[in-house]
Amino acid sequence: MRKIRCIGILTSGGDAPGMNAAIRAVTRSGICNGFKIKGIYRGYDGLINDEIKTFTTEDVSNIIQTGGTILRTARSKAFTTAAGRKRAYEVLQKESIDALVVIGGNGSLTGAKIFAEEYDFPIIGLPGTIDNDLYGTDSTIGYDTTLNTITQCVDKIRDTATSHERIFFVEVMGRDAGFLAQNSAIASGAEVAIIPEDSRGSDQLITFMERGIRKSKKSCIVIVSESPKCGAMYYANRVNKEYPEFDVRVSILGHLQRGGTPSAADRILASQVGYGAIQALIQGQRNVMVGVRNNEIVYVPFVDAISKDKPMNLELIKVLDELSI
Ligand code: F6P
Repeated sequence: MRKIRCIGILTSGGDAPGMNAAIRAVTRSGICNGFKIKGIYRGYDGLINDEIKTFTTEDVSNIIQTGGTILRTARSKAFTTAAGRKRAYEVLQKESIDALVVIGGNGSLTGAKIFAEEYDFPIIGLPGTIDNDLYGTDSTIGYDTTLNTITQCVDKIRDTATSHERIFFVEVMGRDAGFLAQNSAIASGAEVAIIPEDSRGSDQLITFMERGIRKSKKSCIVIVSESPKCGAMYYANRVNKEYPEFDVRVSILGHLQRGGTPSAADRILASQVGYGAIQALIQGQRNVMVGVRNNEIVYVPFVDAISKDKPMNLELIKVLDELSI
């Protein structure tokens, strides 16, 4: 196996609060252990286009507290093609980069896995996504901050919901996973969370309308996990038609969920897995995602991280059901 002297680092996919803390951790821990670190801008696109700069410890000063990513990010179409990946490999050779650390979500780590296998190239992944949908780690970088952001937004929406006695459908991100919706509903005291993992599906709405709202409450908050077909608008339209006596509003939180100062928990997670990435390379690991389970660093093979379903604690559904009576 080729000796690793220089490590490239990039962020890819949707930005997530805490990515900068991870960039800082990889850079500082890498330099501390004798590696040269190169920052690659704009995700895999920047790799293909050779947008690369050597990082010193000063390049990552004063960023632990900032949202977004100083490396910028992209969802690269070019890297999904064999020609794009060949070009990426040529750039890595030209830049004398011997290993990569990729910070991103499911799509980004899938790209990393394909490339690592195609070119027998060492890559370590860090779980960077607000969705928390990567298997093998208790949380992902950005998830805790986003959960707190949603909770604060819903606290505000509740003022209007209560004052006007309205039903609010609040749509939150999560792609195909309901972690943000379920846990923000519990944290904000919402009445219902409509999430893909709940086998009751859209019947939840009927159950809820019949059970709760008519009897005990004049206003309520329903958190809906984003979905192309059954998002917040879909449910609001149904209530408008089926229960016209209610005053209904929709609030789609959108990208404000991804911005802002990372929480302490996200900064700590990012620092821990960033350090873990360098340790993994020193130990000769490759093609694994660094996660944290029960407070301990774990190395999860890419194939598991991206293709196994992360289990949701289904008891949380009962918790919400019981507490929202
Ligand atoms: O994966 C993170 C995420 O924010 C998802 O929750 C959401 O579906 C998607 O990215 C939005 O992507 P974009 O920023 O490209 O609109």
